[in-house]
Amino acid sequence: MNTMLTKEEIKELKINGNGIIGKIVREHKSSNSYVLHILEHLGHLPKNFDGTWLPELLDSKSNQVRFWTVKNLGKLTDDEFLQTLKKVALTDSDTNVRREAVSSIGRMRNPKAKNILIEMLQDADPKVVCQAIRGLLVFKEDEKIDNSLKPLINHENEMVRAVIYKEYFAKEKQKTTQQPHAETHEYLKNVVVNGDVREILRNIPEESIHLTFTSPPYYNARDYSIYPSYQAYLEFLEEVFKEVHRTTKEGRFLIVNTSPIIIARMSRAHSSKRYPIPFDLHPYLVKMGWEFIDDIVWLKPEASVKNRNAGFLQHRKPLGYKPNAITEYLMVYRKQTEKLLDWNIKQYRWQTVKESKVADGYETSNVWRIDPKFDKVHSAVFPVELCKRIVEYYSFKGDLVFDPFGGSGTLGRTAKSLGRLFFLTEVDEKYFEYMKSFMRNNTLFGERATKFLSLSDFIKSIKQQ
Ligand SMILES: C[S@@+](CC[C@H](N)C(=O)[O-])C[C@H]1O[C@@H](n2cnc3c(N)ncnc32)[C@H](O)[C@@H]1O
Repeated sequence: MNTMLTKEEIKELKINGNGIIGKIVREHKSSNSYVLHILEHLGHLPKNFDGTWLPELLDSKSNQVRFWTVKNLGKLTDDEFLQTLKKVALTDSDTNVRREAVSSIGRMRNPKAKNILIEMLQDADPKVVCQAIRGLLVFKEDEKIDNSLKPLINHENEMVRAVIYKEYFAKEKQKTTQQPHAETHEYLKNVVVNGDVREILRNIPEESIHLTFTSPPYYNARDYSIYPSYQAYLEFLEEVFKEVHRTTKEGRFLIVNTSPIIIARMSRAHSSKRYPIPFDLHPYLVKMGWEFIDDIVWLKPEASVKNRNAGFLQHRKPLGYKPNAITEYLMVYRKQTEKLLDWNIKQYRWQTVKESKVADGYETSNVWRIDPKFDKVHSAVFPVELCKRIVEYYSFKGDLVFDPFGGSGTLGRTAKSLGRLFFLTEVDEKYFEYMKSFMRNNTLFGERATKFLSLSDFIKSIKQQ
């Protein structure tokens, strides 16, 4: 049996750079695990390292051995190996090995690699193309390189298009407001407006809101809103979320709570109809510029939902199976931007970031087990725990948190209790009054009072500032 070299031994032999490692590898060529162990632990290679033995390993049947060989060839940054790597990039049977070969060519940062990388832009694997782009961007502003890269804005693959857009076509957005990212307007702070959200948002400048969490009406499944058709309902939501998008700050989040719904049958001669709201809404949101981030499943106890299982329990006939729906979706989106999350975080004072850190015991999975909340006045209220998690995970202290479909105002109250500001809109006067009954008495001394405004009073308050 071969005894493996320790990491320290490999390090020592590599520093000597005199080909001993190559000799050892040749002696053990028949053992993939032995060769791999050395290749994986070579780490940074000194300038005088003798790597002439590496290309021999490219005949190995093991994808892993070829992958690590290519990786180490790249570390040598010796243009003598360019043609070897090019051959691998063009002909290897394993995609990961080909990608690594292109990446290695790029990492050499050698002008002699330019033509090879340009050739790789034609590759059928979009990840190979992205690696070639990465390698070429080192030479950005070289006219030939720019002329090869810019046309890829029309590439078939979306990842390729996105990289080229960011590098060559994204312009610094002209901001209409000079307001700092972490701040918002006085007239939005802890305000509830009674009216149609579409009309209300029209009065609000772009980039005012830090986070939106909402549960829209469930088409015609509940009593509070009626739409002439499912299509009209989706178009209504499209209008709302377009305005939410405009008024959301750069790179910030929207979380939409929905679930497929069932509309009961007209009579025994008809069947009931199910509407997959989250799936139908998703394409609208993406098209208007919301980037999909995550799907979180809200899981409720089975005893808390309507039982659809009674018939099947009796007859047990296939096709008639009806599971009890114990989940809803929390679809997480981010307002599309070229900026990374780090940019958003850096807009806050160090102290605010520190105070907003999420404590131990946070939910680590995308299945959130939370009991639903039943309310005597409103038939579809958020549980406080759901709002708490969303507010803590997706906003900073002092942020403005928005719910366009305010209902009983759960999000507002929770946001306030967590040191955030809130803005709510609600069309139904009954629920607007209900919110008042909650909030009237909870203004502690010194805290910002909640304002309840009609649309016209809200517009007046904007003009006064
Ligand atoms: C599912 S409920 C939201 C309940 C809320 N999440 C809570 O915790 O109480 C949807 C709410 O949206 C309101 N609504 C419907 N259409 C609206 C519109 N055009 N503008 C503002 N609110 C609207 C309804 O009256 C209803 O109260």
